[in-house]
Amino acid sequence: MTRPAPSRRDEMLREMGIGPRWQLRGAAAVTGAEAPVTSAPAAGVPLPRPAAVPGPGWEELKARVASCTACGLHAKRNRTVFGVGDEQADWLFIGEGPGAEEDAQGEPFVGQAGKLLDNMLASINLGRGSKVYIANIVKCRPPGNRNPEAEEAQACSSHLQRQIELIRPRLIVALGKVAAVNLLGRDASIAALRGQVHEHRGIPLIVTYHPAYLLRTLNDKAKAWQDLCFAVDTMRGLQSAARTSAD
Ligand code: URA
Repeated sequence: MTRPAPSRRDEMLREMGIGPRWQLRGAAAVTGAEAPVTSAPAAGVPLPRPAAVPGPGWEELKARVASCTACGLHAKRNRTVFGVGDEQADWLFIGEGPGAEEDAQGEPFVGQAGKLLDNMLASINLGRGSKVYIANIVKCRPPGNRNPEAEEAQACSSHLQRQIELIRPRLIVALGKVAAVNLLGRDASIAALRGQVHEHRGIPLIVTYHPAYLLRTLNDKAKAWQDLCFAVDTMRGLQSAARTSAD
């Protein structure tokens, strides 16, 4: 066994909790994808965004969510968990629903899974405050951390849809099966859905594993890294297409 000299890619993988990689002499690297370098548009000039859709603005939407009683989840919540991040983000990461810590703090992905998500974002030069918005399929905690029921996701979907309309992200990343199935409107495994660019209401969408699953299934972190690299490549293509159409 030899240990390759640490590269920028290794550092990012370590940040995500994957590395350091050990490689058999002469064997190919196990993680597969090449490291993304940046997600920023090259020119530094704002790229054109899709047209705004009329409807409630951020403040009204936040008030609606805070007082929502559209499904049974409202009865046991401490806080609604609206979402967090750049309201004009190119990237929208969507999880499942708040857990206990999110319910206590009113912010998505602040527990253990959130720490991993932050590392995943950092590994591709993103952070929750910059170019990224993070939301969930449901805004109230499902008791006992169970998956949201279909009716609960449905009751919450108008809130999420309005968030998507307001953000107008270039790319959605669905974190885990609950997000993927609800956003794509069809049942399939993450294994079957990853590695392709899907669409949610005309917005490109990529599927990867939920960070909480990755905390339990360390072997799949390498696949999540490949998904992130794929997402970065896809974003580059989308930004480049937007740049070309602006010329
Ligand atoms: N898991 C999710 O899907 N969302 C959160 O906000 C926290 C954990």
